[in-house]
Amino acid sequence: MIKEKKSVGVDIGSNVVKIIGLRRKKKIRIEFMKLIDLYLSRNVNRPEDLSDTLLVQVIRGLIAEIKGGVKKVKTSVSGPNALVHSMELPNLSDSEILSAIRWKLASIIPFNIDDVEFDFQVLNTNKSSNMQTVLVGIVPANKMKKHLDILTRANLEPEIVEIDSLAIYNCFITLQDLHPNKTVAILNIGAECATLIIMHPDHDPFFKSIAIGGNTLTRAIERMLHISFIDAEREKIEMNYQPSHNTDNTNNYKEIGWKGPLLSMVAKLAEELKKADIYYQILYGEEGLQRIYLTGGSAKLKNLDYLLADAVKVPVTLWNPLKSEKLEYKQEIGNIDELGLHFATSLGLALRDEL
Ligand SMILES: Nc1ncnc2c1ncn2[C@@H]1O[C@H](COP(=O)(O)OP(=O)(O)OP(=O)(O)O)[C@@H](O)[C@H]1O
Ligand SMILES: [Mg+2]
Repeated sequence: MIKEKKSVGVDIGSNVVKIIGLRRKKKIRIEFMKLIDLYLSRNVNRPEDLSDTLLVQVIRGLIAEIKGGVKKVKTSVSGPNALVHSMELPNLSDSEILSAIRWKLASIIPFNIDDVEFDFQVLNTNKSSNMQTVLVGIVPANKMKKHLDILTRANLEPEIVEIDSLAIYNCFITLQDLHPNKTVAILNIGAECATLIIMHPDHDPFFKSIAIGGNTLTRAIERMLHISFIDAEREKIEMNYQPSHNTDNTNNYKEIGWKGPLLSMVAKLAEELKKADIYYQILYGEEGLQRIYLTGGSAKLKNLDYLLADAVKVPVTLWNPLKSEKLEYKQEIGNIDELGLHFATSLGLALRDEL
């Protein structure tokens, strides 16, 4: 039976709020998609001014534009305290799994088990060994409560709350075919943090949240050029629209005053990628990374793909999830190249349980 229900994903990012709705037809049909950049839309001038009330207003505004309205949504939380762990557990019923996870978590996490909320997803089951691998998403309870309050105040009903990085992983494995015998990485660079996922079709994925994002660079530009956060943000984004002059891409940055912070951001990301790559090789005895799929709003930074590839010595491809052949659109979308890079999380959420 073809599912006709609308499934909606909402991603309240640090800088950009996204919402996407889909229906399962022959292909996966995108019914609507909307985003608002809190800074470029002039709702906020600097991160300190961002309040829950403002987010509620912004979300309400986005929803008001959607024909037929929205009520139930799938949503995610992110940040350095939102973790994903994979665990080996015996094949148990769902209620037994919950207590087994709770018990295991108590010995892994650095805070009290009563102060966290968690959810799980079965990755694979091995009937012969009677074991299963589950991915467990963990969030501090107060963070979860704050997130749910914002959505409820925006008149939405959250059905599922997931960890950002799990949603990105789900988006990738639903829309891309994993190449046999190849280890690949996804690097989603948002505003406050980057998510790194390393995966191979025969092994469990590895997740890592890195506290580097577009705002790291904006703050560095703010300090260097002695300008406000919002002006630094604009300065950063305008650079993308200046024409390239030559084939050596690093030279494009000669004329900008903040080449240093950009290269230092690339160096830190490259270091994390190399560390995770080696860890994964040791863990599973596979060859190193074959490709890095770069996504997230900060993947739009001019030549970032080139600079990262050069630093890690692994090919880097921009991954725009909205351009997947498994998707179709109710209406044509003009600037899909620009928009798509923001949507891995929200699309991954909307795709959950829909296939
Ligand atoms: N054209 C552009 N060039 C460079 N950076 C850009 C461009 N457009 C957007 N960005 C950056 O993308 C970031 C927002 O991306 P994204 O929507 O993925 O983040 P987010 O989900 O809001 O953040 P997080 O996931 O960290 O909470 C901002 O830092 C913004 O400056
Ligand atoms: Mg994000």
